[in-house]
Amino acid sequence: MIPTIEQCLSFLAEENCPNAVIEHCMAVELLAMKITLRITKDRKTLDLVSMGALLHDIGRSRTHGIEHAYLGADILRKRGLDEAIVRIVERHIGAGINPEEADILGLPPRNYMPETLAEKIVAHADNLITHDDRGPARWKVADAVARERGKGHEAQAVRIEKLHTELSELAAIDLDEI
Ligand SMILES: [Fe+2]
Repeated sequence: MIPTIEQCLSFLAEENCPNAVIEHCMAVELLAMKITLRITKDRKTLDLVSMGALLHDIGRSRTHGIEHAYLGADILRKRGLDEAIVRIVERHIGAGINPEEADILGLPPRNYMPETLAEKIVAHADNLITHDDRGPARWKVADAVARERGKGHEAQAVRIEKLHTELSELAAIDLDEI
């Protein structure tokens, strides 16, 4: 099933997602759609990005830990959503988590690396949205990279830089400028 925007917002409310999470999802959706439109006008991709972005943090209704990605995917699978949307949610952490890292983190063995264009765009739009006192705010890629380095996550920092470059090349503009 491919939901409408209204259905996505209902799912977030039905799962008791806090308003701050819903605002974050909407901010990520707006940026993700701006990025997508620079790359393609394909309707299917635009729909997937929109729905995937709106729902990407639905698992935060359960936990704010890293598990929120696969728990969110499980919530959506139970609701019968299209796998293409479910995988966007499952693979949205940073620029992906490889099998070795997933094992160390104690995550169930699944593929957590974004592979499709829609999966990559939602994961990276999320990297570029932070929060200030007023709510969601833009971040530069350097900020997202510095945060990972600050936590000692060197591989993730490099992966985020690479994803930023890949999508910026496809969009023909540095995503920091969008
Ligand atoms: Fe998330």
